[in-house]
Amino acid sequence: MEFKELLPRRRMVRHYRPESVPLQVVQRIVETVRRAPSAGYSQGQRLLVVTEEAGRAEIARVLGAAGWTSPGELEPWLESAPVHVLVCTREDDYHERYLQPDKLAGAEEIDWPVPFWFVDAGAALMLLLLAAIDEGLAAGLSGVPRDAAEELRASFGIAEDVTIVALVTIGRAAPDPGWSAVTSRRTQPRRAAQEAVRWERW
Ligand SMILES: Cc1cc2nc3c(=O)[nH]c(=O)nc-3n(C[C@H](O)[C@H](O)[C@H](O)COP(=O)(O)O)c2cc1C
Repeated sequence: MEFKELLPRRRMVRHYRPESVPLQVVQRIVETVRRAPSAGYSQGQRLLVVTEEAGRAEIARVLGAAGWTSPGELEPWLESAPVHVLVCTREDDYHERYLQPDKLAGAEEIDWPVPFWFVDAGAALMLLLLAAIDEGLAAGLSGVPRDAAEELRASFGIAEDVTIVALVTIGRAAPDPGWSAVTSRRTQPRRAAQEAVRWERW
C-alpha cells in the first residue's frame, strides 16, 4: 500500500473481529522492529508478542483490573484482540553503546536532553501500527500503568533490565463507535498545522 493511502487510515482501533491473524502476517508486522531507527544504532527496542489465549486473557485481566480499558458499556478492546504486543525498551543498550569510544564525549557518556530509549520505542510502535494497516489489519495502543507493568513482568517473566513502554493490539477491525465517541479523537480537533509545524523560525 502506498504511504499516501496508508496514512489517512491510521487511527487507533479498539475493537476487533474474532478471526485470528496468520502467524506469518504477525511475523511480518513485528519484524518491522528491525528496520526501526535507533540512537547510535543501539537497537534497544524489544517486543513481547502474545497470541495464545491464556496470555492475552492475562494482559486483559491485568489492565482491566487497573481500570484502564473497556469500561463495561464500550466495545471489548483487549479481550477482542487476537494479537497483543508489549513494546519494551532496554535502557542499558544505550548506555553500553554511548560508552563506546566513537560515542564518548571526552571520557563521559553524552547527557542527551531526552531518553533516547523511549524515543526509539515510539518509532518501533509506529512501525507496528503502520505495518498492521499495510497487512489489511488495524491496531490500537494502550498505556500500561506502573503497577500493571510490574504485574505483567511477573506473569510473563519479563527481564528486570527491560521496561514496558506500551501495549499494541492488532487484529481485523470491528466497529468501535462507542470508543470513538469517548476518545479525544472525537472530542478534540487535530491541532492546526500552523501550530504543530513552524517554518524557518519559532
Ligand atoms: C504513548 C501513547 C499512549 C496511549 N495510551 C492510550 C491509552 O492508554 N488508552 C487509549 O485508549 N488510547 C491511548 N492512546 C491513543 C491515543 O488516545 C490516540 O492516538 C489519540 O487519541 C489520537 O487518535 P488516533 O490515534 O486514532 O488518531 C495512546 C497513544 C500514545 C501515543
